[in-house]
Amino acid sequence: MSGQDNQELLHSPLNGSCSNKIEGAERIENSAIVQNGTADDISDPMCSSSSPLQLHFEDITSAAFKVKSAILITPCMKSHLSELTGMDVFLKKDFLQYTGSFKERGACYALIMLSDQQRRKGVISASLGNHALALSYHGHKLNIPVTVVMPVVAPIMKIRACRQHGASVVVQGKDMGEAKKIAMQLSKERDLIYINGYDHPHIMAGQGTLGLEIADQVNDVDAVIVPVGGGGLIAGVALAIKTLHPKTTVIGVESERCASFSRALKAGKPVYTPIESTLADGLAVPMVGYNAFATAAPLIDKMVVVEEKWIAIAILRLVELEKCVVEGAGAAGLAAILAGHLDELKGKRVVLPLCGGNIDTTILGRCLDRGLACDGRLLKFSVTVSDRPGGIAELCRLMASIGVSIKDIMHERAWIQSDIFSVEVKVVCETQDIEHASILKRILCENYKTVIFGEIPSPVLLGAEDVSTNLI
Ligand SMILES: Cc1ncc(COP(=O)(O)O)c(C=O)c1O
Repeated sequence: MSGQDNQELLHSPLNGSCSNKIEGAERIENSAIVQNGTADDISDPMCSSSSPLQLHFEDITSAAFKVKSAILITPCMKSHLSELTGMDVFLKKDFLQYTGSFKERGACYALIMLSDQQRRKGVISASLGNHALALSYHGHKLNIPVTVVMPVVAPIMKIRACRQHGASVVVQGKDMGEAKKIAMQLSKERDLIYINGYDHPHIMAGQGTLGLEIADQVNDVDAVIVPVGGGGLIAGVALAIKTLHPKTTVIGVESERCASFSRALKAGKPVYTPIESTLADGLAVPMVGYNAFATAAPLIDKMVVVEEKWIAIAILRLVELEKCVVEGAGAAGLAAILAGHLDELKGKRVVLPLCGGNIDTTILGRCLDRGLACDGRLLKFSVTVSDRPGGIAELCRLMASIGVSIKDIMHERAWIQSDIFSVEVKVVCETQDIEHASILKRILCENYKTVIFGEIPSPVLLGAEDVSTNLI
């Protein structure tokens, strides 16, 4: 690991113990300093813009040795998605770690590497959830007090789980940028070590162990597709993979709503990127890490940006075909393939780290519905039918006759202008696939004068050009 100033911190002794104190969030939230959020001038000595650290392969092997009793070696298996994608897809199931994500690798290593004194004082970090969870869990196990600042957009289940692991949780800041400022200020105020969740060198080294495992588990890997938030995961994985197998392609994936690594590559350095809410909440980092960028940028072969709808479809495919519940960030790699951004990998051996499974149940439900809608399997339409007795029953019979299932139905009379004996019926229904949807559309149009469908996805978007002939 390069960077003189940080050597002492990086190679500190392992021992130390203290009580894992649970502090109320309220006390911290009432701090005047936190409310003012004036932490612009506080810099993190481990993550400096002027002297970024480049990780070394040996840092990753040291991490692998030190975390091996605390971290699962997760399976990396040939997937059922191979047929759908035309690639030999292997899924690295890191969502099976105890707290549901790869973040345990780095968090555990960073905590193990603290000095006795640092362990006694405790650590602080800002996180959208997975790093906070990992730090809380391993902090509890190692008896190290942990404080996490989570922005208000962090998923509720992640916030709750951090509290359950005994961490002191501060929910403040509109995004990761603000949460980080607050955490930096608190670290100064309370003399806590700040552990950046993607840019601290020990974090990157820990994440790199996932790359070591991939190299060990799958032969002749052509490409690894890595979701990118702050860049720590791809930095570690790219270094491990490129060192062991220089010919393997490393591809980064971001959501279009927070493409901060792509922007950094264009600018030649980390730059602030405005972010919007995304299904891949774990990737919503407005500025990638300096160390992560310095380490990963020379090793990445390609960056891809995916649209939200593909993330929803990827989540749905993983549930249906693999029986895996994966959060948006973890599904981003598959989303990039399904979106057709990586067609050059057809016929190749491709590894997708499914790096997180922490998704709120309600969000999962919405993702599945959106995915079904994008697939043309969940449809919305309105149709004007006769208001005579049996008019609506006839519509229901027609739909039942072709096996379409009604999820929701409502009718209204007052706003119909044309015919006093007509009623407008609004229906949400389920079909088997886009072809089935087009049959429904044809039959309705043959039987009723006014039929208005919500958007039916274009068949090209679904990778099924031949279906287009069936659409009306
Ligand atoms: C599930 C998941 N995947 C990928 C990432 C991206 O990791 P990094 O921020 O190190 O780029 C995150 C970050 O939190 C994540 O939670």
